[in-house]
Amino acid sequence: MSTTTTARRLDVTGMVRVARERVVARIREAEVVAAALSAGRNVLLEGPPGTGKTTLLRSLADGAGVPLVLVEGNAELTPTRLVGHHDASRVLTEDYRPENFVPGPLTRAMTDGAILYVEEFNRVPEETMNVLLGVLSEREMHVPRFGRVTARPTFRLVAAMNPFDAVGTARVTPALYDRSCRVAMGYQDEEAELAVVATATGGPAGLVAQAVRAVRITRDHPELRIGSSVRGALDTVLIALELATVRGHEAVEDTTGLDAALAALTGKVTLADGATRPVEDVVADIWRRAGEELGKA
Ligand SMILES: Nc1ncnc2c1ncn2[C@@H]1O[C@H](COP(=O)(O)OP(=O)(O)O)[C@@H](O)[C@H]1O
Ligand SMILES: [Mg+2]
Repeated sequence: MSTTTTARRLDVTGMVRVARERVVARIREAEVVAAALSAGRNVLLEGPPGTGKTTLLRSLADGAGVPLVLVEGNAELTPTRLVGHHDASRVLTEDYRPENFVPGPLTRAMTDGAILYVEEFNRVPEETMNVLLGVLSEREMHVPRFGRVTARPTFRLVAAMNPFDAVGTARVTPALYDRSCRVAMGYQDEEAELAVVATATGGPAGLVAQAVRAVRITRDHPELRIGSSVRGALDTVLIALELATVRGHEAVEDTTGLDAALAALTGKVTLADGATRPVEDVVADIWRRAGEELGKA
């Protein structure tokens, strides 16, 4: 047990400072995640896609001066993919040697003292979750024919999950919840989403407002089961600005905004069971309603 490495505190003030520069609002979440990571804890971030989880994590890692290793969680993320493998052709000529081991993201994160960020964590196979669980308890792991990998003191795990994922968050073992802290990241309020879209696109205020209102309507619409995150609003504005240029218009006209909204939103939302209209009709209605609510003619 004496070989177990211990976590070292991180620059919690630097983390929160960078998050405040780059992330709109979310100050409480930034402070809590930074504090938990600095204290040597691991974190589960729970929220739907597009709620700024990656943006927050990246800014906290930069603020701490620690690398971020990002892994997409899915059913193909086997222990071998996560940990690493021996180069097959070199094994043929050289046999198994530490030098022909190709480290995977977990091994790299441990040896670099990085924050390992696993998105869609609840989709990861159980054997892979168990590997991570072992690393969280011991801060080291044994890799067959490679040897012992010890985590540097700044190594942490952050797992992100979408609570509305059909896979479900119940797949995650209680042992992992027990070894992590959980922070919920829901959709932000309209003011924050307006600031996110205005800052990222530089689009005109009226268009930004209509795009943000439209995505907010999609989240609470009887004909839709899954609505759009702020990404839908970002895409709508960016596409509309380009479309206006293509069409030689000085401003974004109503039909241009609608074309952009259809391209940006119809693939991001999911129709509710029993919905009878095509998704294009639903999105077109939502776009018009957003305009009406904001007092557009
Ligand atoms: N609070 C926020 N501050 C700044 N940008 C944000 C915020 N929330 C979302 N975004 C922007 O929205 C998009 C999606 O955010 P992202 O961090 O990738 O979300 P997630 O990881 O939760 O899916 C990115 O372009 C990101 O810059
Ligand atoms: Mg993300």
